[in-house]
Amino acid sequence: MALLEVKDLQVEFPLGRKTLKALHGVSFSLEKGERLGIVGESGAGKSVAAFSILNLLTRPGRISAGEVRFEGRDLSKLSADEMRQIRGNRISMIFQDPMMTLNPVLTIGTQMIECLKAHRDISDKEAKELAIARLRDVMIPSPEKRMDSYPHELSGGMRQRVVIAIALLTDPSIIIADEPTTALDVTIQAEIMSLMLDLCKTNNVGLILITHDLAVVSQVTEKMIVMYAGRIVEQGETQDIINNPKHPYTRGLIKALPQENLPGARLNQIRGSMPSLDAIPVGCAFNPRCDFADENCCKNLPELAGPIAHQAACTKIDTLPEFTAVGARK
Ligand SMILES: Nc1ncnc2c1ncn2[C@@H]1O[C@H](COP(=O)(O)OP(=O)(O)OP(=O)(O)O)[C@@H](O)[C@H]1O
Ligand SMILES: [Mg+2]
Repeated sequence: MALLEVKDLQVEFPLGRKTLKALHGVSFSLEKGERLGIVGESGAGKSVAAFSILNLLTRPGRISAGEVRFEGRDLSKLSADEMRQIRGNRISMIFQDPMMTLNPVLTIGTQMIECLKAHRDISDKEAKELAIARLRDVMIPSPEKRMDSYPHELSGGMRQRVVIAIALLTDPSIIIADEPTTALDVTIQAEIMSLMLDLCKTNNVGLILITHDLAVVSQVTEKMIVMYAGRIVEQGETQDIINNPKHPYTRGLIKALPQENLPGARLNQIRGSMPSLDAIPVGCAFNPRCDFADENCCKNLPELAGPIAHQAACTKIDTLPEFTAVGARK
């Protein structure tokens, strides 16, 4: 049994008379200590997928079908209290904006101690020691002093380190990180990402990493899913997908990577844009942007096919030209 199992998840947003479907049957699993990347352009459904795992969908969003099983228990069937014991304890979440996690009017120390005491039966002194140890793990200088700081007294990078320390505080089995470094300076992004990777490895914590950045997914994760318009269009082992992408959408994402765009060359962006939920094309949702689409692609929805280690949802796979990106193979 996988640690986390998401099965045929469907999410919808009832809006007035219409109901918009944001996820159409998304399935994936995570084993203990495994790292999974979720990629796709803006609006693909990455955050909706992550939020629905923890029952954090904003109203009126709701899971209309499917299951999220954590250690065998269906999370959608838990009471609010039981869910609180999982969220921020067994499964932690890191958002793009550290201030989604941090309370601006409480010191770092108070927040960490409160978080620990909410989930553990420990004294203030033990909680304080644990909090300082975690701040040390994320390389915060003078952690004892930092316990008395307020979030606004720290730089963006330091704040995100504190958020990582809080995420790890309760020894979770899984961290879900939604664009954890996107809001940071480019120079700090790599540092924070490698810190997160090291800490997940050392503590055997599973990671679900949501990002636009395929290069990061390639460095950090063992398996990945590529999402388009609320569906998984390709999934499998990360290195296999990066080196041998099957779906024209994944190929487009890889070709758009900066290292694929030599100086002076035309940018290899995928033409067009992600459809909005009320205008998802019939057939393969990617068909209007795909160079290989034929009549069938505009009528019939392709299913994921192929060995579980690498599946893609495209009926043209066997007739596509060989993939020839340069930088992706580095
Ligand atoms: N509360 C909501 N009400 C209506 N539609 C929503 C709501 N939240 C998300 N959506 C829609 O669901 C789709 C998926 O959104 P989601 O936030 O998961 O995208 P994403 O892949 O995380 O994009 P980004 O990379 O920009 O974060 C989008 O079309 C979005 O407009
Ligand atoms: Mg998002």
